[in-house]
Amino acid sequence: MTGHAGDGATPAVECEGVTRRFGGLEAVSQVSLSLAAGERRAIIGPNGAGKTTLFRLISGEMPVTAGRVRLFGRDITTTPCHRRTQLGLGRTFQITNLFPTLSVLDNLVLAALGLGRTKFSMLRPLWTYREPRARALETLDTVGLADRRDGIVRTLSHGEQRQIEMALALLTRPRVLLLDEPTAGLSPAESALMTRAIQRLDRTITILLIEHDMDVVFDIVSRITVLHLGRFFAEGSPAEVRQDPRVQEIYFGAGEVTPC
Ligand SMILES: Nc1ncnc2c1ncn2[C@@H]1O[C@H](COP(=O)(O)OP(=O)(O)O)[C@@H](O)[C@H]1O
Ligand SMILES: [Mg+2]
Repeated sequence: MTGHAGDGATPAVECEGVTRRFGGLEAVSQVSLSLAAGERRAIIGPNGAGKTTLFRLISGEMPVTAGRVRLFGRDITTTPCHRRTQLGLGRTFQITNLFPTLSVLDNLVLAALGLGRTKFSMLRPLWTYREPRARALETLDTVGLADRRDGIVRTLSHGEQRQIEMALALLTRPRVLLLDEPTAGLSPAESALMTRAIQRLDRTITILLIEHDMDVVFDIVSRITVLHLGRFFAEGSPAEVRQDPRVQEIYFGAGEVTPC
């Protein structure tokens, strides 16, 4: 594999024959996909299709059983998770380690401090950490939470908490962002806010999005990859995929009522 990071021709993310077995189950089976730098792609498929597992294999949370993963041409198949983050791969995690009694801004400043080289002191007020604070404020603005910066985390709505999850992923200034069902469990209004926040992200960030809501998918991506039973099933524009009778069939076959 040749090419230099960001030269436009080298894919941002490449999976080649990526496979993951859990005992006798092949959760992800020989999946190959290639995302151009700056591309916004959705991965859809019925429950259990292997979408989240594929994300874990790309982010390094879990090792592949077989296959290769590349990031901007660099083989990262066996690269540890934290190193992939340093190389520009960002993903959202469920919030488990926020400080519920601190403000949104203070939480993000603490998270930014954890990423940078500035030494943290319990005796030093958080607002005096200028670089982490600037980064936290910039990120809050990006996800549309700037006006909630002083809100106490435990009082936030579910939608706002999901926006913080995305803010935490953006703090690492990723070049590739993996979003696993960012609108899951959100009200229509919250979902619209989240969609707008994703649309507003820097166009140079490559986005891979797992999403069930086809309206959200249509608003964000230009291409969709469909997985079914761990395998690549179809790929195309949102319109093509929505009209594909085979795609409709796997959803109905899985007992779901809408195509995506
Ligand atoms: N850690 C695991 N151990 C065993 N089986 C798993 C594990 N993670 C996922 N699976 C199984 O792999 C399949 C794909 O799961 P997943 O990737 O979560 O699907 P999706 O995100 O498309 O709903 C499912 O059958 C699931 O039960
Ligand atoms: Mg999933």
